[in-house]
Amino acid sequence: MLICHTIKEIKSFTRQAASQGKTIGFIPTMGYFHAGHLSLMSEAKKICNVVVSSIFVNPIQFGPQEDFTCYPRDIERDKRLAEEVGVDAIFIPSAEEMYPPRFSTFVETKKITDCLCGKSRPGHFQGVTTVVTKLFNIIQPDMAFFGQKDFQQAAIIRRMVEDLNLEVKIILVPTVRDKDGLALSSRNVYLTPTQRQAALSIPKSLALAAQIVENGERDPAKVKMAVSGVLAAEPLVEIDYVEIYSLPHLEEISFLQGEVLLAVAAKVGKTRLIDNLVLKIPDNKVNHPK
Ligand code: PAJ
Repeated sequence: MLICHTIKEIKSFTRQAASQGKTIGFIPTMGYFHAGHLSLMSEAKKICNVVVSSIFVNPIQFGPQEDFTCYPRDIERDKRLAEEVGVDAIFIPSAEEMYPPRFSTFVETKKITDCLCGKSRPGHFQGVTTVVTKLFNIIQPDMAFFGQKDFQQAAIIRRMVEDLNLEVKIILVPTVRDKDGLALSSRNVYLTPTQRQAALSIPKSLALAAQIVENGERDPAKVKMAVSGVLAAEPLVEIDYVEIYSLPHLEEISFLQGEVLLAVAAKVGKTRLIDNLVLKIPDNKVNHPK
């Protein structure tokens, strides 16, 4: 597996692969790999000739009070894991390589960033769209793989790719969970055993919502209330948001139909966790008055 620290090195690798007619799959990450990251790489491996990943803890997507400095890092372990799943090259740039002194250009996607994490973390998605644009330009992948775990992020990247006519296909990969149901996240290492137990209320609340909808509930407010109820019953959990939006454009809705996104963000201690579920509402169910 090739390790590149400079833009020049990784460009020369990907340009050569492209010139040989190989398709390039790309997985941007901030490292500290878990099975979620690895599943994106495995998906890429299945459908692309060459798989490239990047590890870059992107300073400009962290707010001033956020965890940039203590974000978990273990490059040697990451290299081993990536090699095991067959990644061909990893790009690991320094902050100076990506943002040289006079760097002043940012990519911003509007509207779709107004809700959910875009609302709670001002500036976050501008940091994401800027770094992902740079990475796409450097790597020039045919396909890029994103996790459903960060649903809004993937939706924003799709919007940006369409709006800016970027030549890359965005592939969404399902959320990988631990055996107990908690969505894998590099930030889960921050949790104490007690906090982790409390965090399980997040997947439990989503499962309850799926059940209620399955039973015929079509009022988003009632579903959100049930989810909030499960989370609020856990004293260590502080809700950031519980929201339901239509897909694919993340618009507000007053009735559940088609495909909708149920998204949750909550703090457990100082750790901010997110999770979501795509609910596919069957046409034939009616809302029976109770
Ligand atoms: P990071 O949090 O490292 O995530 C990298 C990719 O892994 C993202 O597409 C994310 O959605 C996916 N991922 C994380 N947890 C997952 C899980 N449990 N199951 C499936 N996929 C999962 O997201 C970022 O980095 C950054 O914002 C980045 C896009 C790299 C830009 O800096």
